[in-house]
Amino acid sequence: LVEDAKTAFGSASSGDDLDAARIEFLGAKKGRLKTIQKSLGKVDNADKPAAGKELNATKSAITDAFDAAKSRLGTGADGEVADPTFDPTLPGTQFRMGNLHPITQTINELKDIMGRLGFTHAEGPEVEDDYHNFKALNIPSSHPARDPLDNFYLRTAQNQADSIGKELDDENPLLLRSQTSTVQIRVMETTKPPVRIFSLGRVYRPDTPDWSHYPMFHQMEGLMVDENVTLADLKTVLRLFANSYLGGDVKIRIRPSFFPFTEPSVEADYYWNGKWVEFGGAGIVDPNVLAAVGYDTESVSGFAFGLGIERLCMIRHKITDIRYLFTNDVRFLRQF
Ligand code: PHE
Repeated sequence: LVEDAKTAFGSASSGDDLDAARIEFLGAKKGRLKTIQKSLGKVDNADKPAAGKELNATKSAITDAFDAAKSRLGTGADGEVADPTFDPTLPGTQFRMGNLHPITQTINELKDIMGRLGFTHAEGPEVEDDYHNFKALNIPSSHPARDPLDNFYLRTAQNQADSIGKELDDENPLLLRSQTSTVQIRVMETTKPPVRIFSLGRVYRPDTPDWSHYPMFHQMEGLMVDENVTLADLKTVLRLFANSYLGGDVKIRIRPSFFPFTEPSVEADYYWNGKWVEFGGAGIVDPNVLAAVGYDTESVSGFAFGLGIERLCMIRHKITDIRYLFTNDVRFLRQF
């Protein structure tokens, strides 16, 4: 058998020939070696060790012969003849280096700026409960902001509760957070004033996508609580922030607005390329919010703001449609 195999492998002149010979001798089902191996069962028990040894020796001799033929023909493991036109001295294909997503780049830059302004980075979960997303932020249960049509409430928790036969806390359902203001509460629950934090992250709202809306986007939240914090401090921080992010001396203005968790509430704009651009919401933290986390509203006050990160990124890079940021077309992404 070994001699037969050597002849067959030795005379193979192509990868196909060699492969055919390999199947004849070493095939896993009907190969000649396999056939012999199968008949080993009929050998007397006393003769089995010797027969097994013989079989192994045969197998390795045949395999050696195959390997020798394979390297003679220069074939790969799959029996293909190596490409004779392959020239290893030619320069290789240039691969383009990847880069960070524009939103990630913006986030990194915002972290830098806020760090320089003396704010500490804080994080909170994207799956939040009603308490942190609404109640602790002074948003009453009747408030339209809690509408199921405006929020991604989660059924998962309900299903889990059902499966273990427990009542779900209907008073405090889970949802994908709709604003990063949740982090204000989480930080104040665990830290005593003075507080000076910022938080960056995803928020979710079931909006129909258009050039400026997307069901998921990013916000940056800022919060400062200390003695005698006023609207003037808020304006200063927003102006320093705008100057750093946009470069130069950027004008900003605040307009009256309303948020349940700030009083007074403002909408901040900055002046950019000849027009006023909306920055985000802000205001002086409502005493109800401070009281809910156990702060002494007689001795401390604070400001908070929430800015849309996509908007900042789009202004900077002259991106005209938020959807470009999330459809992951490399032709778009590689421009940053
Ligand atoms: N959370 C508000 C929003 O999503 C923005 C905001 C943050 C307003 C902090 C005031 C203070 O629109």
